[in-house]
Amino acid sequence: MVKSSKNSVLNEDMAYIFDKLSNAEKNKFKNSRILITGCGGFLGYYFMHFFNTYCDELGIEEVIALDNFLTGTRDWLDEMTMDNPLIKLHHFDIIKDDPGSIEGIDKVNLIIHGASIASPTFYRIYPLETVDANVTGLRRLMDYYSGKNITGMLFFSSSEIYGDPFPEFIPTNEEYRGNVATMGPRACYDEAKRFGETLCYIFGEKYGFPVSIARPFNNYGPGMNINDKRLPADFAKCVLEGRDLVMFSDGKPTRTFCYISDAITGYLKILLYGKTDVFNIGIDKPEISVMEFAGLFKENAIRLFDYKGRVEFDVPEDSHYMTDNPNRRCPDITKAKSMLGYDPGIYVDEGIGRYLEFLKINKGGLL
Ligand SMILES: NC(=O)c1ccc[n+]([C@@H]2O[C@H](COP(=O)([O-])OP(=O)(O)OC[C@H]3O[C@@H](n4cnc5c(N)ncnc54)[C@H](O)[C@@H]3O)[C@@H](O)[C@H]2O)c1
Repeated sequence: MVKSSKNSVLNEDMAYIFDKLSNAEKNKFKNSRILITGCGGFLGYYFMHFFNTYCDELGIEEVIALDNFLTGTRDWLDEMTMDNPLIKLHHFDIIKDDPGSIEGIDKVNLIIHGASIASPTFYRIYPLETVDANVTGLRRLMDYYSGKNITGMLFFSSSEIYGDPFPEFIPTNEEYRGNVATMGPRACYDEAKRFGETLCYIFGEKYGFPVSIARPFNNYGPGMNINDKRLPADFAKCVLEGRDLVMFSDGKPTRTFCYISDAITGYLKILLYGKTDVFNIGIDKPEISVMEFAGLFKENAIRLFDYKGRVEFDVPEDSHYMTDNPNRRCPDITKAKSMLGYDPGIYVDEGIGRYLEFLKINKGGLL
């Protein structure tokens, strides 16, 4: 039976993701046992809702969901697990807790390793925890599962491994090696992701471990906590509180913004691919400035909330807010399109509208 949520945006997005998977991909979920780390975060919110919605239809046998709730939230997860006996939630730190202490974890065949703070404000507060989740946590998972029955593992890297690409490398494809600072306020994240990729490569080469890597480019949408301090969350919080939309840059850096349901479709395709490889996941158009992004928030907010705020500039409290922030970021997604049938279709104007509508229905929260 397909479960539905009280939130129509969430229901539509779940159906969208389901429809974008091929039958061959859906079949790979049959009798699967899934482990997900970082289940309480932004991407975790959509993964968990997807598994909760379609576990019966897809024939999923169990989902083991882990988080140490350093930044994630759990009230919605508690509610979900109360209703669904196939989902087992554990407070678990991937850096130091013993996987062997969790019942059923040895029978898992699909793994999503998403535990790692993604918000720059928070990874600067927790730089060592960020390095450790992506390096030690990843290594411990792959050590534990080497020689076991794994059919697919997804490691979350980041578009940040490209750093601030030279103009001739934009749009950026997977071959670009990056322009990244080893020392600086973002290095704990960027370099940890880079080393995480190297670990995946080694385990793939040496042990045939079926780990595939996603490099996400600027995802946004429902599930992103409005207190997360990433740009879309900040703008959404301004709208909900009826304050002006505040930009802490000059508004000129450009990005392509990938709506969460497109991104999750890409990640599931990578998880099910089951071979060592790396894919950009994002959307390749339109590339817009932060100023234009703020403008789209304002237009949608007027429509949905009768919003009266303006777009303003301010100086961030965090003095490193802009240090090593890339000027342009735009993915070349040809590889994921041709090899995985990934085909994102929700453009930024529609996506912002969906995010705000979700928040309106949910009164700003995730429950
Ligand atoms: N959202 C994006 O646009 C984006 C972009 C690039 C990369 N990523 C990567 O995707 C993954 C998920 O991103 P997100 O946006 O959901 O991040 P998030 O920060 O919203 O969620 C991460 C979750 O991991 C948990 N966590 C952190 N350290 C942990 C540990 N040691 N043990 C267990 N749990 C731990 C946190 O409590 C949180 O719930 C991360 O690896 C992130 O780096 C995301």
